Amino acid sequence: MNLINKYNIPGPRYTSYPTVPYWDENSFSTEKWIETFKRSFDESNDKGGISIYIHLPFCESLCTFCACHKRITKLHSVEDGYIAAVLKEWKMYVDLLGKKPKIKELHLGGGTPTFFNPQNLKKLLEGIFELSVIAENPEFSFEGHPNNTSTDHLKTLYSLGFRRCSYGVQDYDLKVQQTINRIQPFEKVEAVTKAARDIGYESISHDLIFGLPHQTWESMAATIEKTKSLKPDRIAFYSYAHVPWIKGVGQRGFDESDLPSAELKRELYEKGKNLLEELGYIEIGMDHFSLPTDSLYQSMKDKTIHRNFMGYSSSSTQLMIGLGMSAISDSWYAFAQNDKSVEGYIEQVNAGELPVFRGHILNEEDLMVRRHILNIMCHLETSWEEKNMQLPEMPEIIGRLEEMQQDGLIEINNNHLKVTEKGRTFVRNIAMAFDLRMIRKQPETRIFSMTV
Ligand SMILES: C[S@@+](CC[C@H](N)C(=O)[O-])C[C@H]1O[C@@H](n2cnc3c(N)ncnc32)[C@H](O)[C@@H]1O
Ligand code: SF4
Repeated sequence: MNLINKYNIPGPRYTSYPTVPYWDENSFSTEKWIETFKRSFDESNDKGGISIYIHLPFCESLCTFCACHKRITKLHSVEDGYIAAVLKEWKMYVDLLGKKPKIKELHLGGGTPTFFNPQNLKKLLEGIFELSVIAENPEFSFEGHPNNTSTDHLKTLYSLGFRRCSYGVQDYDLKVQQTINRIQPFEKVEAVTKAARDIGYESISHDLIFGLPHQTWESMAATIEKTKSLKPDRIAFYSYAHVPWIKGVGQRGFDESDLPSAELKRELYEKGKNLLEELGYIEIGMDHFSLPTDSLYQSMKDKTIHRNFMGYSSSSTQLMIGLGMSAISDSWYAFAQNDKSVEGYIEQVNAGELPVFRGHILNEEDLMVRRHILNIMCHLETSWEEKNMQLPEMPEIIGRLEEMQQDGLIEINNNHLKVTEKGRTFVRNIAMAFDLRMIRKQPETRIFSMTV
């Protein structure tokens, strides 16, 4: 049987362990979160520094495939109140520390960060920087929508230290674009990519998705050819996550029958991956491709690559503070997520409370599993030679991996697992063998998209 057929089952993307549906919310409290947050800060701030993720949720129109936390509005008057709340939340965190944090990494995600006008983004970032120090060689990045990223946005963010941006492209085919309600001509993407290069951005990434409604291999190949002509430093090649059962996701603008069959979706992935490799891109972990000149490739080679809620990153920080509605913070010892509505978030911050509504405190076992899963997702190998990596469940885990070893996806020797070239596509399945929380408690309803 075709391996993709065999291993294409619902599974997590492992931007965290435990994954959000398996968080133990009963053992979590904001007080415990603050404790681990302070501990993590003390352990890591003077070493490399910390990361900040700022969620900017607004978009002017709804793309019907989108699974992100967003709020659709054309009213730009929402910008001021939202920025004021994010700055208040930041001050709450800094006050807890009694010392200026050192920022190594900062990412603006969304929603659409470029919904905000450049002056407001400047106000937001200057407010963040006022209470902090900036690490050496900081890594600042943002997600830009090609339709509304202006030269002013690019220049303003560059002057504030941003050197990396990613653009949502998805697909260039007009019929696909019409169906997902996202008309975005190639010329727009070309213009913002060139403008960013001219200004001095060092790494430009394009997001593409396979498995969208009405996609064919011909349309996908044409999209990749157009992408090639702009030579982005990185390409995210995402599998379309069709999750219409999650409330609030706008995936209703098309019929299930408009989606490519499972067979065609696999073909889009396999041929797409081959074409990207022919064009000189190297696959990094899962979903990501990079030119050998990009820092992401270097970090994969040096084994400094890290994976968190923002996806892969070329630097590794222990503490990530997520600001804004729905943002998730990670202290390594715990996760905490903010309120998922704009109003609820602003209300709580204005009342002087951290807007955290749920989270998870990791126990010793979670930490061990987390290290294994990160090793697999980032370095395509893991080992249980050292005592602090030896889970009592190792024999069962190895039992679950046996079939994958027979299928040539992994090699296990001397307490060491290595993902083979053939196994790269299946890193999520390999990581799932270690996911003790998921194995012990199978969900009653479907919660994950397919692994391929
Ligand atoms: C927050 S959006 C990008 C920024 C900006 N809002 C834009 O649309 O250009 C982040 C990326 O998530 C990806 N994405 C969103 N929904 C998805 C889904 N259902 N399946 C796969 N990828 C998805 C898209 O590639 C998108 O570019
Ligand atoms: S893809 Fe981007 S612009 Fe479209 S709805 Fe999602 S976050 Fe907003």
